[in-house]
Amino acid sequence: MPRMTINERPVEFDLDPDMPLLYALREAANLTGTKSCGGGDCVGACMVLVDGTALRSCRITLAEAEGRLITTIEGLSRDRSHPLQQAMVAEQAIQCGYCTPGIVMAGAALLQRNSAPSKEEVEAALSNLCRCGVYPRLVRAVQRAGRVIQRRESISAAPAPGIEAADAAQRVPALRALPEAEAPE
Ligand code: FES
Ligand code: FES
Repeated sequence: MPRMTINERPVEFDLDPDMPLLYALREAANLTGTKSCGGGDCVGACMVLVDGTALRSCRITLAEAEGRLITTIEGLSRDRSHPLQQAMVAEQAIQCGYCTPGIVMAGAALLQRNSAPSKEEVEAALSNLCRCGVYPRLVRAVQRAGRVIQRRESISAAPAPGIEAADAAQRVPALRALPEAEAPE
């Protein structure tokens, strides 16, 4: 049974190791912030961080995720205060929202290694498809978040969503917390 750490919580999935990580996150762990097109076509609505690198969770099996540190959009910041989340709202870069979690994860990974990316660097990092076509706003949001990270700018906090993460999550039988001693290295 594959073990990994998800959003700083050691977990073990009682699921087929060949199952894509995406389905385990959404269907078993109830982490539905990670979106899905169901088959690799959306190029990134399913993006999560795997050991800090943005990867498509539909293209990774549970076996391949074994022992890795996984971060989903729910774990990026508990209160949606990550600079890119704030900048996405401030730049009105969220339309239907389908692509948004994947964009945020890809952008956050970029900003972690480069807080002042050029337009070209943002475009290269955000390979994600946005069917609403807000690409110019996405670039502005990532660059603005970089300025916030560098403390050259601040953004007024976006309104709280009114939903606690603990309320959104549900206990499900396919996921169980591991004692710390059993957590993957
Ligand atoms: S679910 Fe669409 S690319 Fe992974
Ligand atoms: S905001 Fe609708 S798909 Fe990107």
